[in-house]
Amino acid sequence: MKTQITELFGIEHPIIQGGMHYVGFAGLAAAVSNAGGLGIITALTQPSSDALAREIGRCREMTDKPFGVNLTFLPSRNPPDYPGYVRAIIDGGVRIVETAGNNPQQWLPALHEAGIRVIHKCTSVRHALKAESIGCDAVSVDGFECGGHPGEDDVPNFILLPRAADELRVPFVASGGMADGRSLVAALAMGAAGINMGTRFVATAEAPVHRKVKQAIIAATELDTRLVMRPLRNTERVLNNAGVERLLKKERRLGADITFSDIAEEVGGVYPRVMRDGDLDAGGWSCGMVAGLIHDIPRVGDLIDRIMRQAEEIVATRLQGMLSRA
Ligand SMILES: Cc1cc2nc3c(=O)[nH]c(=O)nc-3n(C[C@H](O)[C@H](O)[C@H](O)COP(=O)(O)O)c2cc1C
Repeated sequence: MKTQITELFGIEHPIIQGGMHYVGFAGLAAAVSNAGGLGIITALTQPSSDALAREIGRCREMTDKPFGVNLTFLPSRNPPDYPGYVRAIIDGGVRIVETAGNNPQQWLPALHEAGIRVIHKCTSVRHALKAESIGCDAVSVDGFECGGHPGEDDVPNFILLPRAADELRVPFVASGGMADGRSLVAALAMGAAGINMGTRFVATAEAPVHRKVKQAIIAATELDTRLVMRPLRNTERVLNNAGVERLLKKERRLGADITFSDIAEEVGGVYPRVMRDGDLDAGGWSCGMVAGLIHDIPRVGDLIDRIMRQAEEIVATRLQGMLSRA
């Protein structure tokens, strides 16, 4: 399949694996890229810019296809070493960067000068237009159903994607709730040039996370996610668990007075405990409503082949059939 996104990134299929804390290591990124999608290493999971440089090198040993690096800009009083991470990305010869979390403007000149394409992930049309206006090459439009940070506008993809299509000139991918060939065809129908998936890629053989995490996603339905940190305007969609219920109880009790330190136990340092150790109740960890559509743990290559086959079948047989019958 050829779309503006496959052309822009030099990939075979319009499927991107979004950056994921403690999931987006080189092994998963290389598996996605080898299968013809775009795999993405998550920079901030690496403890230093040197470690990121090594992870980029490891990915290059596993694939000769294009892959990217996610740079998430967090609200933080002690920001991570962003200049160091950007340097590691440029020196490592990475060609694609996914930015998220905040306006990437200050890093664009250095990235573009190095010939890097930038896709910015955002949750509203106004932020997508801003990304376009500052020179991002593409946008990832993340609907309210997404795992991770859906923003504060709560607009689901059935509205957000056509709105984005009406306003944007740069190509965009649909993110949030994407699982299979049906998602891909629907996203393309609404004007997107591909899909970005998070949760679906966690439940794959190559995702370097504890098997209990994959099983929890399979066991979950679309009713099992919760929104946390809403009072702090840092909303995250997570899989419900004992730690999340404790967190939500604190949010109800403290109301508008709540601060980060009140919930540090349930949101700080949770990812390694969940993803590496399988301590599922440690606190909030991102998971999309799409868990309700995930029932297996395929190899990444089989998943991507299945999505593309199903998408082609829907277009060429089901939809075309409706037209010919008319
Ligand atoms: C476990 C997990 C961790 C994530 N961590 C990040 C992250 O560090 N940075 C980021 O930009 N997005 C992160 N995301 C969001 C994904 O990149 C993607 O946008 C989102 O999962 C799409 O929604 P879906 O889960 O419905 O596919 C994370 C998602 C998951 C499920």
